[in-house]
Amino acid sequence: MFVSTDQAVAILKNQGVVAIPTETVYGLAGRISSQKALDLIFETKKRPFFDPLIVHIRDKAQARQLVSEWSEIAEALADRFWPGPLTLVLKKNPQLISDRITSGLPRVGLRCPRHPLALEVLAKLGEAFAAPSANLFGRTSPTQAEHVEHEFQGQVPILDGGACEVGIESTVLLLEGNSLAILRKGQIREDELRLYLEKMALPHKWQESVSKSQSPGQLKHHYMPAKPLFWASQKMDAATALEKANQKLKVLPEEVEGVRLAIPSQIQQLAELRLPQDPVKTARVLYSELRRLSETSEIDGLIFFEESYHSKPEWGAIIERLHKATSAILN
Ligand code: TXA
Ligand code: MG
Repeated sequence: MFVSTDQAVAILKNQGVVAIPTETVYGLAGRISSQKALDLIFETKKRPFFDPLIVHIRDKAQARQLVSEWSEIAEALADRFWPGPLTLVLKKNPQLISDRITSGLPRVGLRCPRHPLALEVLAKLGEAFAAPSANLFGRTSPTQAEHVEHEFQGQVPILDGGACEVGIESTVLLLEGNSLAILRKGQIREDELRLYLEKMALPHKWQESVSKSQSPGQLKHHYMPAKPLFWASQKMDAATALEKANQKLKVLPEEVEGVRLAIPSQIQQLAELRLPQDPVKTARVLYSELRRLSETSEIDGLIFFEESYHSKPEWGAIIERLHKATSAILN
C-alpha cells in the first residue's frame, strides 16, 4: 500500500511502521518513543535484537537532545555533512533512547537524511524515528518503493519517493572523545572526513581496530540476493566460471548467519553483474541490479568479475558490500 506524507505521519503517530525514502536506501521507520513500533520493526524484518537501529533526526538541535555528549568534532561534522549520508555514533541520552534501539549499547547512531520526503515526515512528526533499511534481515537493501513492496509482499505501507540518489547505506562513524572509527563504509570516506577535520583544526585520532561490542551489527554476510553470487577474483571465460561455480555449489550452505538462499542443484545460467565504471553510478544501481538478476527466473546464479580499478578507495564501500553479498569466491 502506497501512502501520502500525511498518512505516513499519521501511521507513525499511531505507533505503526512505514517505509520512508531516504537518499541512501528506503528505511522502515517507527517512532523512537514507541516500544510497540520498535518491536514491529524487528518483527517485520526478522531482525535479531543484537543489531542496533539508526535514529533519524531532522536537525542538529534534535540530535543534541538524544545524546549525553556532543563534542566540537560532532558539531563540525554535523554542520558539514548533515543532511546527508553520515551516521554519527555517540553516547546516548538513556532517557530518550531505549536499549531496544541500541541493542543495549551505551551509544546511539544518529543521522539526518537528505531526502525531502524524509525531512517533511520528520518535521510534521516532531519526533525522531528509528529506521533500519526496509529489507528482510541480511538481504539486499531497497532503493525503490517497488523493492519494499516486493520484499514484504505489500504488507508494509510505503511512502514512494522514487529511486534513491546515493543507493548504498550511510557511512557509520563512531566518535569516542576525539577518537574516530568507521564502522561501515559509505559514500563519505575516511579521507574526506580526515581532510575536513584537519582543515577545521580539530585534533583527532583514528582507532586502529574496532571491537565486536562497538559494532555488533556488522556481520560477515549481508546484502545477499536471493540466489548465490559468485566473485571471480581473476579473469576467466564464461565456461570456466560456470564450471567453477558448479564445483563450489556442492559445498554452499543454504543458510548463512540466518539468511537463506535458493541454492539450485546445478547452475545452468550464470548472469554477470555488470556495473558502470563510475563508482557513484554503480552505488546507485548496485542493489537494484542484484535484485533484478536474482529475480529473473532463468538465472540461477550471479557472477561479479573483479577489475583492478575496483581496489581504488572510491570503490571501497561498494566492494565491501559485494564481498558480504558473495556466497563463494572463484579463483
Ligand atoms: O543509510 C542508512 O544508514 C540507512 C537509511 C535507512 O538511513 N539505514 C541503515 O540501517 O542502513 P541498518 O539498520 O540497515 O544498518 C544499521 C547499522 C547497524 O547494523 C550497525 O552496523 C550500525 O548501523 N549501528 C547503528 N547503531 C549503532 C550503534 N549504536 N553502535 C554501533 N553501530 C551502530
Ligand atoms: Mg540494513
